[in-house]
Amino acid sequence: MHTVSQLQDLFVSGLEQRTRPAEPAGLYEPIDYIMSLGGKRIRPVMAMMSCELFGGRPADAMAAALAVETFHNFTLLHDDIMDEAPLRRGRETVHMRYGVSQGILSGDLMLIMSYKYLMEYPDPELFRALTASLSDAAVKVCEGQQWDMAFEGDGEVTIPDYLRMIEYKTAALLASALEMGALTGGASAADARELYEFGRLLGLAFQLLDDLLDSFGDPKKFGKKVGGDISRNKKTYLYLKALELADEHTRAQLVDLYSHQPAEDAGKISTVKGIFESLEIPAHTRGVIDRYQKEAFSHLEAINVDDSSKKSLRDLAVQLGVREH
Ligand code: IPE
Ligand code: IPE
Ligand code: MG
Ligand code: MG
Ligand code: MG
Repeated sequence: MHTVSQLQDLFVSGLEQRTRPAEPAGLYEPIDYIMSLGGKRIRPVMAMMSCELFGGRPADAMAAALAVETFHNFTLLHDDIMDEAPLRRGRETVHMRYGVSQGILSGDLMLIMSYKYLMEYPDPELFRALTASLSDAAVKVCEGQQWDMAFEGDGEVTIPDYLRMIEYKTAALLASALEMGALTGGASAADARELYEFGRLLGLAFQLLDDLLDSFGDPKKFGKKVGGDISRNKKTYLYLKALELADEHTRAQLVDLYSHQPAEDAGKISTVKGIFESLEIPAHTRGVIDRYQKEAFSHLEAINVDDSSKKSLRDLAVQLGVREH
């Protein structure tokens, strides 16, 4: 079994082995830029870990790992355009640096590249199963993103609506990364599904923490603009739980704050954070995160392999629950 940092290194060498054309530079430069900023690379690490869980080698999962991480980075390019985000991984977002058209086109190519990586698998059955898994997640990501955007202007969003939205936009891809890794490691269909479920629940916890950090993270560590979700009226768990717990006056104030998008947003962000804090929303959110993490672990336990080989996935999941970016 390899550690997270060993798998991250292996992933980077796999990425470097596959050279990209230099021309047209305008198309390829943004791809090199975002991929070299790295990020946590948890999806490829999960794919490789899950392959190892069933006796495979990380190299067996490499093409699937490249596919899922390239797909993920494509979604970030387009998501940052949709969210008008200025910062990603502590640096300028692709569309701020290279322009919106570049962000769209380089993102499109990354989507195509992710499917081309899967063509490295010569076995038609495995290729088909991997393509099905990634495509199912890809459709869900688009559906989830659509809900995410539509909810910005929707005053009737409920917590179950939010949970379905994050399951689609985020958890489905984490789950698919684990499922694809399991398939490349030769897991049974039942075990691959169990890992999918582990990833889905972990993914819900992951997006809930992303939303918590978006409001309460340390700007020096988070790597994205803190307060961005508040600025854009995102209907996160934080906001929806606050509506539920607030008195009538505060609820009306929150609804009003979330019906405008002022260009100068610092005042709005600090007012909303003050309300969230007074209602102890960070602690409520933590509680839900912990519940999903626990539930996720029960699916990892159910997998029919030696317990000691689950350690790396278990440790990774614990680390993700206490991350600061
Ligand atoms: C960001 O994903 C998008 C979400 C699903 C919250 P990550 O937090 O995995 O981003 P990187 O790849 O580590 O930068
Ligand atoms: C993450 O949503 C989902 C996708 C990128 C598809 P966010 O909009 O919360 O992601 P960040 O916070 O910008 O990374
Ligand atoms: Mg975003
Ligand atoms: Mg978004
Ligand atoms: Mg976010």
